[in-house]
Amino acid sequence: MNPRQLPALTPVLACLALAACGGGGPGVPPPTDTVLPTVDTSAVAAADPGSTLASDWQHGAVMEIYVRGYQDSDGNGMGDLKGLISRLDYLQDLGVKGLWLMPVNASQDHDHGYAVTDYRAIEPQYGTLADLDELLKQAHARGMGVMLDYVMNHSAGQHPAFVNSRDSTSNAFRDWYVWQNPAPTGWSVFGGNPWRSTPTGAYYAPFWDQMPDFKLTNPAVVSWHHDNLRFWLNRGVDGFRFDAVGNLVENGPGAWQNQPENYTLMQGVRSLLDTYAQRSLVCEAPDAPQLFGASTACGGAFAFGLQYDLVAAAKGNTGALAKVAAYHQTAPAGMASFLSNHDSFAGQRLWDQVGGNQAQYKLAAAMNLLLPGRPFIYYGEEIGMGGNPSLSGDWALRTPMSWTADQSGFTSGTPWRALASNVATQNVAASADPASIRAFYKSLLWLRNLRPSIAQGSHVAPQVQGGVIAWQRLLGTERSLVVMNTGASDVTASIAQLPALANLNRLYPADNAAASADAGGLLSLNLPAQSVRVYNVQP
Ligand code: BGC
Repeated sequence: MNPRQLPALTPVLACLALAACGGGGPGVPPPTDTVLPTVDTSAVAAADPGSTLASDWQHGAVMEIYVRGYQDSDGNGMGDLKGLISRLDYLQDLGVKGLWLMPVNASQDHDHGYAVTDYRAIEPQYGTLADLDELLKQAHARGMGVMLDYVMNHSAGQHPAFVNSRDSTSNAFRDWYVWQNPAPTGWSVFGGNPWRSTPTGAYYAPFWDQMPDFKLTNPAVVSWHHDNLRFWLNRGVDGFRFDAVGNLVENGPGAWQNQPENYTLMQGVRSLLDTYAQRSLVCEAPDAPQLFGASTACGGAFAFGLQYDLVAAAKGNTGALAKVAAYHQTAPAGMASFLSNHDSFAGQRLWDQVGGNQAQYKLAAAMNLLLPGRPFIYYGEEIGMGGNPSLSGDWALRTPMSWTADQSGFTSGTPWRALASNVATQNVAASADPASIRAFYKSLLWLRNLRPSIAQGSHVAPQVQGGVIAWQRLLGTERSLVVMNTGASDVTASIAQLPALANLNRLYPADNAAASADAGGLLSLNLPAQSVRVYNVQP
């Protein structure tokens, strides 16, 4: 619970309880006349501490981290910021260049954190602002940027601004949220009625009745969010993952998603970030990823939809291979790819999607890490961590990190949630083998970090031949060729459109085996079943 909020809320709750017990007789002021919580609306001026990160950090891979599930430092069974700090060496060794922390703001739900109760405070179960400052310092010292999840669309029902807003129609914060009286009809959002009735009107809250939407057509609300963003940027936070940007503004029952105002709002955020050094923005817009990924909006967005094609392509589906080959020919440059994340609507953990088939797992990972765009890795993906089907919905995907074959690597206490079902075999301690999934991730991340063409080069001559997919990445004079055989048998493939008579040296698996293209730029390659090859191409 947020300590700034608890004392303020208590009188309201106490009065409600009294009324419920029949204590509200004549002369007793109604609960709404009791002390309302104050809202911190203080302005925050820009004060950029600068960035010590390498100028290409935004082209590196990012680890999505659920702080509650990552590492416990105090034995209470829940992960925290101090625990995460203790694992930074592991993340650096793996080769990621950024961390996306799922919400670390004080929250009402005390779990996934998207019901924020204080936009300028850390969830007490995770630690303090000083812990975040230490995390920033330690991550930066290891060349990693830290991005926070920011929820502009809605707050928690217990956020002081909403407690004020719902108190009365004349409250100064009434217009911070979306109210109508009477409740409009004819709306269906995510299959339900988003309007939540109260005695003084109905508020709009499509995700949950405890997540009321802000009224983002109110300039005061937007300006306050900008102050909140500066609060974190001034501390040295390197950017944000922006939640639910498709849902920011509603214009009617058939116009509640991806409205024109949403793009303008996100351009405003992008412009704010651009006044700071090297800050990054990745938006979550499952239904319009490329529109929000464009430089006219966020300039970076998750490539929703692509994740399913990457997994199907890794299984050898030729239609999916063609879609994967075509994707980056038209997509904006800032797309952030991923294989799964914390939301079950985006798919189960990769391990469960491929039924534990490690060859397919590695092919999907290689596509994610070697195609254009910015790859995101969901914590534990690098060790083949699965979900736990005995848990419901998203919880199945948000289990404690499998550091060891039991809970002992995660906590010295009792984990607050059941472990991943495959913890006994897929865990960090058991992944030292050079043939492990973790060793594979490490090799490809190392290659990506070593080769600017792979991290940020253009996408040249993508091609599909049966179960074989190939593409080149080009930056300046550095050219890389990636070839994968997703099929279950060895094949000889003909790769076209290389520079005439190009010399090739194999970088992965690293043995420097040489090959060459003919005068027509054709290369003939023998490819083992379900294999990945990466070459340095010299004209
Ligand atoms: C997040 C979910 C969250 C929802 C509402 C989504 O974008 O990924 O986990 O519940 O937004 O904030």
